[in-house]
Amino acid sequence: MQTQTFQWREMTLGVCYYPEHWPKALWREDLRRMKEVGISAVRVAEFAWAIFEPCEGDFHFDFFDEFLDLCEEEKVKVILGTPTATPPAWLTEKYPEVLNALRDGTLLRHGARRQYTYNSPVYRRLSARIVEQLARHYGQHSAVVGWQIDNELNCETDEFYSEADHAAFRAFVQNKYGTLDALNEAWGTVFWSETYTDWSQVHCPRPVLNGGYNPHLLLDYSRFVSESCISFAKMQADIIREHKKPGDFITTNGLFGNLDNHRLQNEALDVYCYDSYPDFAFELDKSPKTSTDLNDRKWSRNLIETRSVCPHFGIMEQQSGGGGWVNRMEMPAPRPGQLTLWAMQSVAQGADFISFFRWRTCTFGTEMYWHGILDYDNRDNRKLAEVREFSRLLRTLDGVCGAENVAAFALLKDYDNEWDARLDAFHRRIKKHSEAEIFAASELNHTPYDAVYLTDGTEPQALSKYAVAIYPHPVIMTEKRAKLLKAYVENGGTLIVGCRAGLKDIRGQEVMLPQPGLLQELTGTDVRDFTFTSPGEDNDPGTPIWNDILTPLDGTAVLDTYKTSYYKGEASLTEHRLGRGRVLHLGSAFSRDRVCKLFAYTGILEPFSAWVTAPEGVELVMRENAGRSFIFALNFQPYEQTITLKKPSILLYTGERAEGDIILPPFGTAVFEEQD
Ligand code: GAL
Repeated sequence: MQTQTFQWREMTLGVCYYPEHWPKALWREDLRRMKEVGISAVRVAEFAWAIFEPCEGDFHFDFFDEFLDLCEEEKVKVILGTPTATPPAWLTEKYPEVLNALRDGTLLRHGARRQYTYNSPVYRRLSARIVEQLARHYGQHSAVVGWQIDNELNCETDEFYSEADHAAFRAFVQNKYGTLDALNEAWGTVFWSETYTDWSQVHCPRPVLNGGYNPHLLLDYSRFVSESCISFAKMQADIIREHKKPGDFITTNGLFGNLDNHRLQNEALDVYCYDSYPDFAFELDKSPKTSTDLNDRKWSRNLIETRSVCPHFGIMEQQSGGGGWVNRMEMPAPRPGQLTLWAMQSVAQGADFISFFRWRTCTFGTEMYWHGILDYDNRDNRKLAEVREFSRLLRTLDGVCGAENVAAFALLKDYDNEWDARLDAFHRRIKKHSEAEIFAASELNHTPYDAVYLTDGTEPQALSKYAVAIYPHPVIMTEKRAKLLKAYVENGGTLIVGCRAGLKDIRGQEVMLPQPGLLQELTGTDVRDFTFTSPGEDNDPGTPIWNDILTPLDGTAVLDTYKTSYYKGEASLTEHRLGRGRVLHLGSAFSRDRVCKLFAYTGILEPFSAWVTAPEGVELVMRENAGRSFIFALNFQPYEQTITLKKPSILLYTGERAEGDIILPPFGTAVFEEQD
């Protein structure tokens, strides 16, 4: 279970605002215009270190005092960012040891952001000091309602190679393994004469030929980066907690790599916030060209991940305009309706707080093409009108605030496998494919899921509410996790695993066991042969990647067989009953077609169909609160689509009764409550 110690009590609308980007003469008018469209909170100051501390140890609060006092007067609430994502020039000039480096050791220099490393003792000291100063000064300010730590931890880069990182990594593995013998064993350093004979020889990854890194070192490096980031965030949270008012929350924003976001939430934060930019789906040159691609709808996948970190999360940055930096990322403006659609997508997936990025587009700097609600000319525009209307719609959804999302199955994940797939091309290919296809099948067939991250400490209750759990490719498996899965199945659960399950141990080394290793007792299968598939060996259309050829053991039924190649006729999908449940073993990666068939076979397909049916192009999401059920219908297409309500319902936006066929306009949304 994740710990969430703060929850919004009503649907709340905010915006990201940068008082330092505008003449003071605009501040009051801006706040009033915000309120007029229903915005009640601003997130500020997350990049303002140079304003608070223009010279070392010389702290100035007058600028933000003036702004926060105005917020107080205008009754706009404030979420205050700690400014550690952007160290001032004096700091990095005087203390270059705080700078992160590229893998080859080249230091990242002043400018841009996130050029620092979590592991520099100097950066920690100076960060702790600025955070302490801010927390002392603003902790009791009545306009403040929350704190954001840093900005998008591990964004821009999630790799660190400064001297401080090499030293910290060395200490991390020394602490983990105790002796060099144990480290050499865990990393298999006898291979290619990599054996370490002194701790000083141990480094973060450094340039090697052809990317031939030691995979076990890389796995520990991911764990190390995550640990470093969490401890940096926790350091800040501990300081803020000493000075903030009870009830004010501590959060951070974004969801990035090499970071155990669940531990970050549990150890440092009260509530988690995500930054949602679905327009990346249409980024020029990267935009998907096929009509079967889910485009901006794919952001639901990130939102589901966020929900797994923190069930009732917020969106600190919700896209409101076309995106772009001067040097990269060219994106179109959201079409009329898309701004609302994207924000409603966040609410549907569990957000109770939406803060748009940003109030007005900056007229200078790297992000002067990252468009906000207002344009440079500051006139009312269609985006502002849409925010006003979204705010009206959001107010009709107060009953949904704090509601639980309803899921038909659990998608099981864990950070060891996340990180193993970063470094292992074989693992990465199947994982990427299967997770995208499972998501697509879930979306197109209106069969929603929760992401559930397993650790060795996960309790069986975390799984027991799901009739079906898909663990697509648990390449790394531990005895504790295998035991948890066994308990889940014996208690009546249906577990589905795909190819290459149980191949490795926690160090990322292959196990010398018949596959699927520690899962064999569960799957009742033996993998005696396996292969990448070649063109023409496309046994499961759309999944030409990998085939484990399954030999069913006693009592295991064959549900499907391979259709081509030298293993034609051998088992490709099996079912093994265990206790009150069963395990399905798929020898390949997952295609959306296969997943849809598995939904049907296990009886979880379209769980809302007695109430509402919809075409593929409409996303359906259900949330439930104290016996009340809500359905979000989101039309991601630029044309009308019709859904059918089979039970009397209320359209919350208007309070009107609704039943039968309902037309959703292009990019239109609707939220219905089931009527008794
Ligand atoms: C986010 C970031 C914001 C802004 C925005 C647009 O990732 O937190 O500060 O940069 O992207 O690029």
